[in-house]
Amino acid sequence: MIDQGPDSTVRVVIVHDSWDGHTAAIAELIAEGARSVPGAAAELHRANEATREHLRGCGALVMGSPVHQRTMSWPMKRFVDLVCEPAWFYDELVGRVGAVFTTGGGHGDAGGGCELAQLSMLGNLAACGLTLVTFPKNSPGFGRHGMHWGPHFRITGEDMVPRPPEDVAAEGRDAALAHGQNIARAAARLRGMQLASAPGWPTLEVIAQRRARETAAGH
Ligand SMILES: Cc1cc2nc3c(=O)[nH]c(=O)nc-3n(C[C@H](O)[C@H](O)[C@H](O)COP(=O)(O)O)c2cc1C
Repeated sequence: MIDQGPDSTVRVVIVHDSWDGHTAAIAELIAEGARSVPGAAAELHRANEATREHLRGCGALVMGSPVHQRTMSWPMKRFVDLVCEPAWFYDELVGRVGAVFTTGGGHGDAGGGCELAQLSMLGNLAACGLTLVTFPKNSPGFGRHGMHWGPHFRITGEDMVPRPPEDVAAEGRDAALAHGQNIARAAARLRGMQLASAPGWPTLEVIAQRRARETAAGH
């Protein structure tokens, strides 16, 4: 049985980076969608503030990033390396639900790199053993926001001028809400299930060696 907290609420944890508020605005909408599912709660954490403690007991981890130079932003990569890597080592996220979304500037319509950004984040979630919730083509808003991996949101108009973060068109709002709902529904259904086989690696000896290294390094 996976320990996902003392009560029956399933926690959807949304870790995101946002330099000008656009990704944060979408994260809020995804949280709103998740919260509309009975028994689900959602919380938002900035990538540079998120810790392993925030992930403990979660039912779902959602990663949202602005596309920066064709991939996830460096605060998201920092989160991957400093928070997700230890969670991967200690198998702390196995069996939870994982999902992604991105925002981008839009040079070249969708903008370069949204797919790379989404896949690199999904790769991290897959490595950590999460069950991935993607963005099916029958989702609301898929026509404009559809990447198969997760929804993508262009923050500029045709004039390439960024819109205010809160100015999300109805189609984008529908896509974000639907993504949040899908994630929360999947997390609620999988809650407490033992999906993965019994621990094989790391062995107790390998864990002891790593703990000794972490203690020596002051982690
Ligand atoms: C350093 C940097 C690199 C960027 N590179 C890309 C890019 O490769 N492709 C793209 O579509 N947008 C790119 N953008 C635009 C951002 O994706 C856009 O500003 C972001 O989605 C806005 O979200 P935020 O307000 O949450 O930061 C870049 C922006 C910055 C600051």
